[in-house]
Amino acid sequence: MPQLPLLPRLPQLIETKEEFLRWRQSLISHSVGLVATMGNLHAGHISLVEKSFQENEHTIVTIFVNPKQFGPKEDFAKYPRTLSEDEEKLMASWKRLTPSKNLIIFAPKTTEEIYPPKFLTTISVGKISKLWEGTHRPGHFEGVATVVYLLFQIIKPSIAYFGAKDFQQVQVIKKMTTDLLLDIKIMACPIVRDHDGLALSSRNQYLTTEGRKQSLVLPQTLNLAAKILIEEDNFENFSAFLEKTKENDDRWEYLAYCDSETLINLKQKQPNGILLGVYKVDGTRLLDNLLITLTIKN
Ligand code: PAJ
Repeated sequence: MPQLPLLPRLPQLIETKEEFLRWRQSLISHSVGLVATMGNLHAGHISLVEKSFQENEHTIVTIFVNPKQFGPKEDFAKYPRTLSEDEEKLMASWKRLTPSKNLIIFAPKTTEEIYPPKFLTTISVGKISKLWEGTHRPGHFEGVATVVYLLFQIIKPSIAYFGAKDFQQVQVIKKMTTDLLLDIKIMACPIVRDHDGLALSSRNQYLTTEGRKQSLVLPQTLNLAAKILIEEDNFENFSAFLEKTKENDDRWEYLAYCDSETLINLKQKQPNGILLGVYKVDGTRLLDNLLITLTIKN
C-alpha cells in the first residue's frame, strides 16, 4: 500500500516538561493493555485480563518466571510452570468475552530473551521497596522493577494491570513509572478471593490440607483488625491488638497499619490506610492486605 505523506507540522516551542509530556501523549492514540504474570494462572490473573479486554483493543499477557525477583533460598526452581493450561484459560476467557479483540500471549522461551548475556542494570525504587516485603525478601523489588521496566519497554502498553493482592508491588511500580516518566497508566485491580476469604495465589497449592485451614487466620485477622480500627476511638488499643496478635503466633512475619501510598507505619488513624500482613504456613509465605478508608472527625 502506498504510504501517505506526513502532514507538515508547524514548529512549536515547548518550555516545560509538563507541556511537553501532554503534547507527546496526544500524538498517538493507542490502547494496549498489559497483564504481566509468572503464569500458573488462576481467577485472580484472569480478572486482570478481563479488565484489559474491556478497556483495550489489544491485550498482551506476559508469562515469565523472573529469576531476578527470587532469593537464593526461594522457590524459583519449583515455581509451577503450566504454559499449556494457562493458554487454555486465556483462550476460554477471550472466546467468552471478546473474540473481536486481540489477545497476545508473550511467554519468552528462555531467560536470555529478557536478560541478554552481559545484562548489568538493576532498577531500585528506594525506600518504598525496602520496607515490609523488601525487608523479608532483600532484592525482591529490584528484580520486579527491573523486569517490569523491561516488559514496559518491549510492550509499550498504554495501561498495565496489576493486582492489589501484591499491594506493595503496585506502589513500587507506580513510583517507578512516575519517576522514570513512563507514559503508562498503572491500574490496581481488586483482590480475588476463594469462597472462604483466602486470597488466590499460585503458592496456595503448596499448602497441606491442615495448612489450608490455618491460612484463614490471615484474612480473618485483617477483617477483625479493620473492625477494631473503625469502631475503636483509642488507637493504642488497636495497636495493642496488632502487637498481641503477632506475639501470640510466630507464623506472622508482619502485620501492620500503614499509609496506603508510602507504606510507612502509622501511629494514628488516617483517611487512607492499609493493613498489610504476611502469615507463614507450611513454609509458604501468604500475603494479604485490606484497604481502610476512614472519615476522620476533627
Ligand atoms: P504473579 O504472582 O503471577 O501475579 C501476576 C499479577 O496477578 C500481579 O499483578 C498480581 O498482583 C496479580 N494477582 C495475583 N493474585 C491475585 C488475586 N488473588 N487477585 C487479584 N490479582 C492477583 O506479581 C507477579 O506475578 C510478578 O511479580 C510480576 C509482576 C509478573 C513481575 O515478574
